[in-house]
Amino acid sequence: MTKIFAHRGSAGTHPENTMASYREAKRVGADGIELDVHLTSDGKLAVIHDETVDRTTNGTGHIKDFTLAELKELDAGSWFTSEFSGETIPELGEVLAWVKQEKLLVNIELKNVFYLDYPGIEENVLQEVNRYGLKEQTVISSFNHIGLNTVRRLDSEIDCAILYSEKLYQPWNYAKTLGSTSLHPHLYGMNDEMIQYAEQIGCPVRPFTINEEQQIEKFIRLGCSAIITDFPERAVILREAISR
Ligand code: G3P
Ligand code: MG
Repeated sequence: MTKIFAHRGSAGTHPENTMASYREAKRVGADGIELDVHLTSDGKLAVIHDETVDRTTNGTGHIKDFTLAELKELDAGSWFTSEFSGETIPELGEVLAWVKQEKLLVNIELKNVFYLDYPGIEENVLQEVNRYGLKEQTVISSFNHIGLNTVRRLDSEIDCAILYSEKLYQPWNYAKTLGSTSLHPHLYGMNDEMIQYAEQIGCPVRPFTINEEQQIEKFIRLGCSAIITDFPERAVILREAISR
């Protein structure tokens, strides 16, 4: 059965990457959540999508220039609607403790991309995953494939997924060269035959971001291991209808 990962939580209905958004994902029956991590100036892991706080909080500036305590002062809910005022930027450990309690899957996306290196972020994230005993329920994903290879060198077992937006040739072979075990392509990154072939050879495919009903249905019927969606409730309902 295709698993449903709630992208930044239930980002279509709640402020992304907040506990409110993750709780909603759980409430509607998602199998797991996707979240994004950055490194703060004091070496802590902050869960937020952009490299700055500008779009999704009442503050301004780069995550790398804030301590975690400073980030915690910001309101990460009001930008969405006033109903969510008081939501804060979670620390990774806080979300993982909850994931453990709720028995969910977690897709941790490392945001050491473009000009941000965040030295040590891979080791730091693995430490947190192990602290909560979540290795079996975790996939580490990134557009930074060099960083993903670092994860693999630090841990030979954890599921690592290449994120990509291009149309890669035989992505399952490319993934293997850096020690990655699964594929997180953009919605248009793989055709039907490629998806079915990858799944057949045991390389899970979890495309993003699958929001339209037709697309959700298509990727479920194709046999993707999972889909990543901003609308987990919609996806859960469609999956149930398909399996009937
Ligand atoms: O996991 C898929 C997705 O999160 C990748 O893109 O920019 O939403 O983090 P982005
Ligand atoms: Mg992401």
